[in-house]
Order: sequence, then C-alpha cells, then structure tokens
Amino acid sequence: MNIDSKILSGLDLSKIIYSQLSKRIEVLKSQSIIPSLAVILVGDNSASKIYVNNKTKRFTQLGLNSSTVNFSIDVTEQELINKISELNNEDTCHGILVQLPLPKHINSEKILLSIDPEKDVDGFHPFNLGKLASGNPTFIPCTPKGIMRFFEHYAIDISGKHVVVVGRSNIVGRPISILTSLKNKYSNATTTICHSGTSDIYHYTKMADVVILALGSPNFLKSDHIKDGSIIIDVGINRIKNNDNGYDLVGDADYESVIDKVSAITPVPGGVGPMTIAMLVENTIEASERLL
Ligand code: GUN
Repeated sequence: MNIDSKILSGLDLSKIIYSQLSKRIEVLKSQSIIPSLAVILVGDNSASKIYVNNKTKRFTQLGLNSSTVNFSIDVTEQELINKISELNNEDTCHGILVQLPLPKHINSEKILLSIDPEKDVDGFHPFNLGKLASGNPTFIPCTPKGIMRFFEHYAIDISGKHVVVVGRSNIVGRPISILTSLKNKYSNATTTICHSGTSDIYHYTKMADVVILALGSPNFLKSDHIKDGSIIIDVGINRIKNNDNGYDLVGDADYESVIDKVSAITPVPGGVGPMTIAMLVENTIEASERLL
C-alpha cells in the first residue's frame, strides 16, 4: 500500500479525473459532440434535489450539457416511460439518469428497463447489471466505480483481502460486492455482504480488512467494531442536527472514534460523494464516444 495520508480524498482524486477527462471532451467537441445527460426527477425529495443539482452544476462547469425533466409526485409509469422513450430516440441525448428513489406507486424496475442500455449511464438496467455480474465491460454504477478508483489511485491492493460490504442496495452494496470479488487487477477480494437480515454485522466488520459502509445510519461503525489497520470506505451521507440549530453531514462511520485505528478512510463530506459525480461524467463521456 502506498498512502501518504490516511485520508482518501475524493475531492483531490476527482480533480485529477476531470483533468484527464478534459482531453476526451476536447476530442468529442472537435467532432461537434457535446456529451449530454438527461436527468429525470420525480417529486420534491430534498436529498434527491440536492444530488441532481450537484450533478448538473458539475456538467455545466465542464461545458457539458445536463437537462433535468421534473415530474410531479403523482406522475404515472406510462408518462415516465413515454419520456424515456423520447430520450432514447433523441440523438443529442447520450445519457439518461432516473434519480432514485421513485414514489412507491411506480415500479422502478419497469422504468429502468425502459432505458436504452447504451444510454444507461447509471448502469442500473438489468442488462448492464447482468454484464457487470458476469465480469463483462459495461456501464458501472457510479458510486461503486468511484470506490474502485480509490483502490486503484491509492494503490490499495485488495486481492486476497476480506472486504465486508454493509448494505445490499442495487445502487451501491450489490454492485460493489460484485466488483470487489471479480478476478481483476485491483479486485479479487473475498467479499462478505451484510444487510438488515444479518444477525450480528459487527461480527463481520471486526474481521474485515476493508469495510464498505452503505447503509445510511449515522455513526454506525465505531472503533470497537473494526480491527487495527483496517480501511473504511464510507458511502453514508447523513444529515444530523448540530448544537447551532443547523445540520452536520456525517458518514456511517463515527470518524472521531475510528480515525486512530484505521490505515485509511474516506471522509464525509469530500470522500465518495465527489467520486460518484466524476464517474457519472465519465460514463456520459463514454456513452457519447459511441458516436465517434
Ligand atoms: N439515488 C441515490 N444515489 C443515486 C445514484 O447514484 N443514481 C440515481 N439515479 N439515483 C440515486
């Protein structure tokens, strides 16, 4: 392992990635192609609105196109499918992202299935998830892809190590459990996936060389729950009230509690979050390069 500081900065790493991507953007622009993303946002969930805003801002900063199609909370499945079908057929739209979660009356699987897999920059279409699971090249979901980049960039060799993933969502937990266990460079780990049905999650985190937390439970992991020198990848972004009548953003790990025991950790904020957006940009560029 080659880490100067134990803090794995997603802010620093995403800047490096954007400067690498700028060359690919130039090539596309020289061919009159401006990578373009369409985001579908349903309802007014404040967290979703913040995520979508951050994504859109980054696209604009890079001179890329990002448009958001807003639907009210009572939108029907058919209305969403009609819009997606329109975007599938639009040549100037290269990537489509449906912000999750969707309201309960909408079958998310049905909606994701209607996205053209070649425009599925989130990598959530079952066809692309199937390719990921079988180790074939595809769009990789943005947060798991960003996590793998930490391992690559900071030369963290997880081969033969025990990775414990906490959380089994299709957005993070499931795909990162697949990626870490694939027989690839920077993967090849022994991966355990824990979830709400696991009787004693801490039993597993105490054995882990790497803990990936994606459960959305503030300060869930404390120093007693890990072994010396372990690595923590913290996907949680939780808003908790502070003493000044405001909010603090905290991860799923209790940072103060674990910091002296870990050999590396992603901070919240400034860790995994910026990497998710960088990978969305990368996937959208990849989608538009199809036209070259
Ligand atoms: N909701 C939370 N994270 C994500 C994400 O990465 N993509 C989408 N589409 N929705 C999300």
